[in-house]
Amino acid sequence: MSEIRILSAEDIQQVFTITDALAAVEDAYRQKAEGAGVAWPMVYAAFEPGVADMDIRSGHLSASGLFGLKLTAWFSGNPAQGQPEIYSTTLICDDTTGAPLALLNASAITGLRTGAAAALGAKWLARKDARNLLIAGSGHMSTFQVAALLAACEGINHVEVWDPRGSEAPKARVEQMRTQVADILAAAGIERTYDLVAVSDGAHAVGHADVIVTITPATSPIIKRDWVRPGTHISCVGADMEGKQEIESALAAAARLYVDDRAQSVASGELEVAVKDGAISEADIVAELGEVIAGKAEGRTSDEQITVFDTSGIAVQDLASSKVAFDRAVERGLGTVVAL
Ligand SMILES: NC(=O)c1ccc[n+]([C@@H]2O[C@H](COP(=O)([O-])OP(=O)(O)OC[C@H]3O[C@@H](n4cnc5c(N)ncnc54)[C@H](O)[C@@H]3O)[C@@H](O)[C@H]2O)c1
Repeated sequence: MSEIRILSAEDIQQVFTITDALAAVEDAYRQKAEGAGVAWPMVYAAFEPGVADMDIRSGHLSASGLFGLKLTAWFSGNPAQGQPEIYSTTLICDDTTGAPLALLNASAITGLRTGAAAALGAKWLARKDARNLLIAGSGHMSTFQVAALLAACEGINHVEVWDPRGSEAPKARVEQMRTQVADILAAAGIERTYDLVAVSDGAHAVGHADVIVTITPATSPIIKRDWVRPGTHISCVGADMEGKQEIESALAAAARLYVDDRAQSVASGELEVAVKDGAISEADIVAELGEVIAGKAEGRTSDEQITVFDTSGIAVQDLASSKVAFDRAVERGLGTVVAL
C-alpha cells in the first residue's frame, strides 16, 4: 500500500516563497537545458470553446527524481455559482518507483512560478542598468509579476501598470496590488523601495520602459513594434494557448528571441502567430532561457538589442516548485497523508 501527501493552499503558503520560486524555476530551466528535464507535449481539450476547457502539462525532472503533471480546468461560469473560475492540481511521482508522492493545490504555486519565469527572463536578458518596469495587464497574475521582478532585479525601482482594456479602476487596483506585492515580498523577507503607479497611455509607457511584462489573454497584439525603443526587454507571459498574441509579429521579427520551450512556444505560445504569419520561423529563436542559464547559449550581446522571452508555462516549473514545497511540508509535518 502506498501513501500520498495532500497539500492545501494554506500548507503551501507556509513553506513556499517568491525566492523559492525563482530558485526552483531557474534550476528547472537549467536541468532542461542539460537534458535532465523534459516538458512533454501539452494536452488541451475544450468542453465548450471559450466557455470551459482543461489542459494537462506534464514532464520529468530526473535530477530532482520526479515526474508529474499539472491539470488546470477553466470553467468561466463558475464564479456565478460561487466557485473559482480555475481549479488547478499538481501530482508529483517518484521517478525510480512511479509511486505518487503528493497532490498539491497548484494555484498556490502558479502565480509565484509564473512571476519567477518572467523575472528570470529579465534577470538574464535585460540591460544591466534597467530601472523602469511596465506590466501590461492588471489582473490576478500581474501582482506576482511585480513581486517577482522586484525580487529578481535589484535595479528596478519604478513600476508602471497598464490595463490595455482600460476596463478596471486602475488607481484602486494599483493600491490593492501594492498591498499584495508587499505581502509576497515580506513572506520571503525581502525589503525593496520602489514606486508603483497606474498608467493609461500604453504607447507612452512602452516607450520609456526598460523591461515590459505582458500578462493578458489578448488575441490581437497590445504592444506595437513602433512603440518599443532599442534596448528594451519584454517577457511575454499571457499567451499560453493557440490564438493568443500580445506583441506584434513585426516586434517579434525585430527582437532577439528566447523561449522556455521551443516546441510549445511555436505551437501555443507567444511566437505561434508570428510563425504562422511568416514574420519569423522557429529557426529565429536564439535559445531556450535554460541554455543561457546553463552557459550553453548567449543572451543579450548589445545594449541596443530588443530581447523577447516567451514563457508559455511548462511542467518543469511546477515540478521543481512542488518538490520544494513537498520536501518542506514533510520536514514540518504539514498536509494530510492518505493511504491509497
Ligand atoms: N505563461 C504562463 O505560465 C501563464 C500562467 C498563468 C496564466 N497565464 C495567462 O496569463 C494571462 C493573464 O492571466 P490573469 O489570471 O492575470 O487574467 P485576468 O483575467 O485576471 O487579467 C487579465 C488582464 O488583461 C486584461 N485583458 C483582458 N482581455 C484583454 C484583451 N483581449 N486585450 C488586452 N487586455 C485584456 C484585463 O483587463 C486584465 O487587466 C491569461 O492569458 C492566462 O492564461 C499564463
